[in-house]
Amino acid sequence: MNLKKEILEWYVTAGVTETIGEYPLNRLTPPKEKVLLPPPLPEQGSSRKTNLESDNFLQDAIELAKSAQTLEELHRILMNFNGCTLKKTAKNTVFGEGPQNAPVMFVGEAPGADEDRLGRPFVGVSGQLLDKIMASVGLDRKKNAYISNIIPWRPPGNRSPSDSEISLCMPFIERHIELLCPKILVLVGGVSMNALLRQNSGIMKVRGNWTSYQTSRMKHPIPAIAIFHTAFLLRNPIQKRLIWKDILTIRQKMEELGIV
Ligand code: URA
Repeated sequence: MNLKKEILEWYVTAGVTETIGEYPLNRLTPPKEKVLLPPPLPEQGSSRKTNLESDNFLQDAIELAKSAQTLEELHRILMNFNGCTLKKTAKNTVFGEGPQNAPVMFVGEAPGADEDRLGRPFVGVSGQLLDKIMASVGLDRKKNAYISNIIPWRPPGNRSPSDSEISLCMPFIERHIELLCPKILVLVGGVSMNALLRQNSGIMKVRGNWTSYQTSRMKHPIPAIAIFHTAFLLRNPIQKRLIWKDILTIRQKMEELGIV
């Protein structure tokens, strides 16, 4: 019997897709004595000295995002930002895709395995469904729609991003929206909706209703609408009838605003 092979197969069956450490850690049996680790040595030329200073990463994210004057600058800043632990396990930073003058911006949750591998948002099966939904109202990421996520790095094993990971990434997606300045903002799924609208509501209740989105640096509010996440639609095809209703609502707004 090849035990190693069987263990690996068991991991795959259980849904494990990443290794995040070289040594196993038994989290069910904590060590009897508390192990106090020394603080990490300061990196040469770095102002960061202890883990306590990681609290400053949020402040760094706010300052760095604010400093970006173009989408290219914001992309570069995000590529160099090492404050979010998700970046350590991700293969790529997934920034955004679409024309910079796109009138409609879609913001999802976080990259999955395909997006992480290719460094592009919404390219897996749920992305293909999003492309079809967009195409039904004349939207296309190559022509007039821009797609991004609130989190630019894939959470390991596709777990949901934690509140602190979302908070840390918020300054970047907020600046992303400010710089792109779309005419319509579409929030894909409950996580994106709650994060950007700073609320804690159910997607069932909020989806399909217009609200507005504005940051302190934006001159005017943008009409915003939440729709079901396409991954949810793939798991619950019965809800597809509501997405068609919502996408027609978006089409109507596009007509009102002279986008089509
Ligand atoms: N789901 C998301 O929310 N974003 C992606 O880019 C892919 C899947």
